[in-house]
Amino acid sequence: MGIADRDHEHASSSSGPAAGSPTATSPLDQSNAAPGASGSGSGATTAAAIANDDQIEADYSTDDDGFDASTTNTYLTSIASDIRRGVEENGRLYAAYGMHKTYLPIDDGELDRNDLQHCKFTLMLEGKLFLAPIVAKPQNILDLGTGSGIWAIDIADAYPSAAVIGVDLAPVQPSIVPPNLTFEIDDIEKDWLWGEDQFDLIHGRELIMAIRDWPRLVRQAYTCLKPGGYIQLSGSLPDFQADDGTLPPDAAYLEMSRIYFDMSARIGASGREVQHWKRYLEDAGYVDVVQHVVKIPTNPWPKDSRLKKIGAFELAHFRDGIANVFARGYEDILGGDPVYFQVLLARARQEVMNRGMHSWVPFYYVWGRKPQ
Ligand SMILES: C[S@@+](CC[C@H](N)C(=O)[O-])C[C@H]1O[C@@H](n2cnc3c(N)ncnc32)[C@H](O)[C@@H]1O
Repeated sequence: MGIADRDHEHASSSSGPAAGSPTATSPLDQSNAAPGASGSGSGATTAAAIANDDQIEADYSTDDDGFDASTTNTYLTSIASDIRRGVEENGRLYAAYGMHKTYLPIDDGELDRNDLQHCKFTLMLEGKLFLAPIVAKPQNILDLGTGSGIWAIDIADAYPSAAVIGVDLAPVQPSIVPPNLTFEIDDIEKDWLWGEDQFDLIHGRELIMAIRDWPRLVRQAYTCLKPGGYIQLSGSLPDFQADDGTLPPDAAYLEMSRIYFDMSARIGASGREVQHWKRYLEDAGYVDVVQHVVKIPTNPWPKDSRLKKIGAFELAHFRDGIANVFARGYEDILGGDPVYFQVLLARARQEVMNRGMHSWVPFYYVWGRKPQ
């Protein structure tokens, strides 16, 4: 299957909202007004009912009116619809669920960026979806922070006998997907609820400004991998470089890169963490850990035709999608001036089209195996 069908039909979630979600407090407000809490409806009686230390008597009947119109269902429906709707800010849409505020939007513009990036990453791996040497017939695969779900869709097509799960904070994935793929809504920074020794492959790609505690994430993945199973993480380190001195130190996109590292460090989800993944995997007990770094050209400047194509994708990504990474954080985290940023972005967009600037971005692949 190719680019995900953006049909706005949201996939159903198999895991319910957890405590700590932004909407988890609303049921308490509603329960104060619930029928039966107070015959008179007076505030004093309601407060007394809340403070009552006696054992609460259970209602074992299931045939009364209240059971059908279960308030619990109402709460869950309202939480679910909040999550589905997301939060709108400055014309962009953000996830409404999760322990931490998120900084990348989840609207069509961002999902299109995910899909464009997927084409570039697949080209970089010459058609492969991952590099880890997993078993020939995997049974269970997990995609962390699945976004538009495009990697999960492709891997489910490639391994029809495997059960694939794509997990994300936001229910933005298409509903028409391969039958062996399900999407779940959950926060991967919380305790994982998947089984021990469950997966043959756990995959996480481009989890930008998303993960505060990578060592914890790779430890949780270790528990959920089968012995012999692999974790593969991949992501860019937007530290632009050129091998022939054609990148001037005052380039606007170098300034954008500094802004990105500053923003991500301030929220505790540093964009430099990709450089430490290998150590984190080794510390967690993985073996055969490999780090493979690929240079992504910033435009079609290379001679080689495959690299030229990758550079063309990267140029389109920078020109049309990179603003997404800064959409919320530049003002929100750094208190930056949006007009200054627009000018900087316009300059950077001009620069990246210059084929005389032979710059590239390092992209990290790190994988490791849970020993038998
Ligand atoms: C840049 S997108 C990458 C999408 C996908 N991995 C890919 O490469 O096409 C990052 C995704 O991670 C999700 N995400 C961020 N923090 C998360 C968390 N704590 N738990 C689950 N998903 C998260 C975001 O909602 C977003 O969809």
